[in-house]
Amino acid sequence: MLIKSTKSSDCHESDVTPESLYLSRRSLLCGAVTGLAASTLPSWASAQEPSRYADVEPGRAPTWFAEKLSHAQWQAVNVKDEAITPFKDATHYNNFYEFGTDKGDPAANAGALKTEPWSVVIDGEVAKPGRYALEDFMKPYQLEERIYRLRCVEAWSMVIPWLGFPISALLKQVEPTSKARFIRFETLQDPKVMPGQRSGFALIDWPYVEGLRLDEAMNPLAILAVGMYGRELPNQNGAPLRLVVPWKYGFKSIKSIVRISLVSEQPKTTWQSIAADEYGFYANVNPTVDHPRWTQARERRLPSGLFSPNVRETRMFNGYSEEVASLYTGLDLRKNY
Ligand code: MTE
Repeated sequence: MLIKSTKSSDCHESDVTPESLYLSRRSLLCGAVTGLAASTLPSWASAQEPSRYADVEPGRAPTWFAEKLSHAQWQAVNVKDEAITPFKDATHYNNFYEFGTDKGDPAANAGALKTEPWSVVIDGEVAKPGRYALEDFMKPYQLEERIYRLRCVEAWSMVIPWLGFPISALLKQVEPTSKARFIRFETLQDPKVMPGQRSGFALIDWPYVEGLRLDEAMNPLAILAVGMYGRELPNQNGAPLRLVVPWKYGFKSIKSIVRISLVSEQPKTTWQSIAADEYGFYANVNPTVDHPRWTQARERRLPSGLFSPNVRETRMFNGYSEEVASLYTGLDLRKNY
């Protein structure tokens, strides 16, 4: 993994990656004109801008997002020699059970989710609790592009260019008390727009909940994302705010977050509550600890077809051992899966 430390305002040729990126947008991103233009255009104006990535469907980002985008630090973290997954696959092969259990359901059904206005509650063991409109919540943070592997426990994987900011920056703002040991995240509960929450067959006790140990959340790789592929998050990918923890199975990366709580006890998380023998609290990617029903030693890197399978060995901590292994020193990862 390559970690670059370019200034946000820099605009180098190195912004160009060999794979799937193109820079029709670069002139927009780097000119002083950009900030001015963004602030005077209507709130959906970024929909008009060409994307930094090929084949990206335009979104309707709010003004605050377009402004932040013009100061984003591109490729703050990258993966080496691995192609970015096509946008189409990343946005049409999803898990978001609130919108249905088939991989195509989130793209088909999440259009009804209204992400503006959106508010986020910060509560629990913090000096500065509150309910924030998303644009106020986002004010202190600069967007960074983090190109990460995403490994699902179902043994498929992708490489996604997220746009977000480190959770450590949020924790600095809200000031956890000395009692805070975990961070708990909660997804929106709105059965009117989320058909999965209306279904009598759903195993999930809504809302979807996830959590991290505080030191895991402080790790520089752990981010809250508001965008991907140089635009705001599509609804099916967890708009307008989701967690991304690349060394853990994808189910930890909770979508459409409305509440972030600092807590003293380990939170009861959704998948652990459903089947604790299959899904642990840690959920670190680990090729040596199999899921009871399938191996975790290998993964299908999407796109991967029946006649052109793209299978690769799964790496410990999804290839991020150097950055995160020290978090688990002395912990039995067979028991704490
Ligand atoms: N968050 C919520 N609220 N509901 C979900 O069903 N699915 C999880 C995670 N976050 C899920 C969720 C799972 S199992 C995975 S693999 C990732 O989202 C998938 O993210 P993606 O669809 O953006 O690839």
